[in-house]
Amino acid sequence: MRIRHLSISFEEYDSREDLNGSDRELLNRAMESCENAYPPYSSFHVGAAVRLSGGLIITGNNQENAAYPSGLCAERVALFYAQAQYPDVAVEAIAIYARPTGFTLKHPVTPCGACRQVIAEYEHRHGNKTRIIMGNGDGAVQVVEGAEALLPLMFYLEELKKR
Ligand code: THU
Repeated sequence: MRIRHLSISFEEYDSREDLNGSDRELLNRAMESCENAYPPYSSFHVGAAVRLSGGLIITGNNQENAAYPSGLCAERVALFYAQAQYPDVAVEAIAIYARPTGFTLKHPVTPCGACRQVIAEYEHRHGNKTRIIMGNGDGAVQVVEGAEALLPLMFYLEELKKR
C-alpha cells in the first residue's frame, strides 16, 4: 500500500477587473446571462458563457423544474447548446457566475461534478483543455486550466473503449 498525493494549481484574481480582456469579457457575458436564469426553487441564479475556438461566445443559465432532477445547470445548458450547434468546434473556455438571492456567496461558484464531467468530455472530444473561469459578485475570481484540476482521477472515455 502507498499513499499518493495530488495537488492542483489555480489562478486567483482579487476581482473581475484584474482578469485579462478575454476572460473578463467571458465572465461579463456569464454575469449578463445569469439574469435570464429560471431558479424559482433555489433562488440561485447562475450564468455560464462558453467561448468556442474562433471566438464565438454561447451563453446559458440554470433552468429549474418542479420535478427537481429535470432542471439543468447553467454550464450544461451552454455547453450542450454549443456542441449541438457547433459539433466540430473546441470549447476554449467557460466562465461561470452566480448571484444568489437572500444570501451572499463567500467563494466563486464552482461547477458541480456532473458539469465537470461534461467539460472533461468535450476536452477529450476536441483534444484541448478548457479554461474554467469562476466568479461571483465583486469578489475573487478563480481560474483553472482544464477539467482535471477540478476532477482528479476522473472517469475517462478510454475506459469504455477497452474490450
Ligand atoms: N447550479 C448551476 O447552474 N451551476 C453550478 O455550477 C452550481 C449549481 C444550479 C443548479 C440549480 O438550479 C441551482 O444552481 C442550485 O443548485
